[in-house]
Amino acid sequence: MTGDRIEVRGLTKAYEGADPLRPALHDVDLEIPRGRFVSLIGPSGCGKSTLLRVVAGLERHDTGTVSVFGSTPERMAAAKAVGLVPQSPALLPWQNVRRNVSLPSRVNRRAGRGSEDPDLLLRMVGLEDAARKYPHELSGGMRQRVAIARAFGIRPDLLLMDEPFSALDEFTREALQLQLLGLWERMSTTVLFVTHSVREAVTLSDTVVVMSARPGRVHEVLDVDLPRPRDRGVVTGPRLHVLEDRVRASLQTAWEAGAAPDDLVPL
Ligand SMILES: Nc1ncnc2c1ncn2[C@@H]1O[C@H](COP(=O)(O)OP(=O)(O)OP(=O)(O)O)[C@@H](O)[C@H]1O
Ligand SMILES: [Mg+2]
Repeated sequence: MTGDRIEVRGLTKAYEGADPLRPALHDVDLEIPRGRFVSLIGPSGCGKSTLLRVVAGLERHDTGTVSVFGSTPERMAAAKAVGLVPQSPALLPWQNVRRNVSLPSRVNRRAGRGSEDPDLLLRMVGLEDAARKYPHELSGGMRQRVAIARAFGIRPDLLLMDEPFSALDEFTREALQLQLLGLWERMSTTVLFVTHSVREAVTLSDTVVVMSARPGRVHEVLDVDLPRPRDRGVVTGPRLHVLEDRVRASLQTAWEAGAAPDDLVPL
């Protein structure tokens, strides 16, 4: 039965013109049960964004299969069941913050799906005072928060997030991590989350998938057995550090497996 999970099997993808011996993704297997919070972490260029775009139905793959709750990524995207927060948030410059957040919900009303109140979402990401501003008036981090609020607006079955907090200061980042967990628990969405932060991956996830580069593939899958809710006590406790060290060690071996010395340009 695949309706209860996302299944990626033997996925390979090479971009046109790239070295066919070094595809962006090579023989990637991944299984994500519905409702799980899963993070992808790995060196720059290992194919995390590519994998997200394939699962989002935005990019075609060469070989292998991708099933999202028993459907194809394209069909899930057409049904507006997938929310994506891309690595650089794409907002409509001629619409204000509130209209940007409510846009997918307005489209979705016609698609017959429920939607979340845009004012509530703006409050949750701390942008209620910026509702009437336009994207060019916002900082990079504020734009990212608009994109996060917008992705939740459609109450997606699957939420794909590509380094959504990378442009934020540490305190805003930590606050938004807890907000995100709150939204995730309330909406029982499945989340696939890309990050470069080991702490963030461990804090948020049920499972951390460590990838290695050249070609991009799954290096190791680590379970995070921290209790939920992940309140301050949990995310500052000693168990978190043990898990962080485990992910860091895995990343180190993934990095050694993937990086050739001639890829690195000395500063
Ligand atoms: N549109 C594209 N056309 C050609 N090659 C691409 C394209 N997008 C990505 N690539 C290549 O595919 C590989 C994986 O890229 P991807 O953006 O998925 O990596 P990533 O893991 O998200 O990296 P980062 O952590 O830096 O965001 C890289 O070698 C990159 O150069
Ligand atoms: Mg990326």
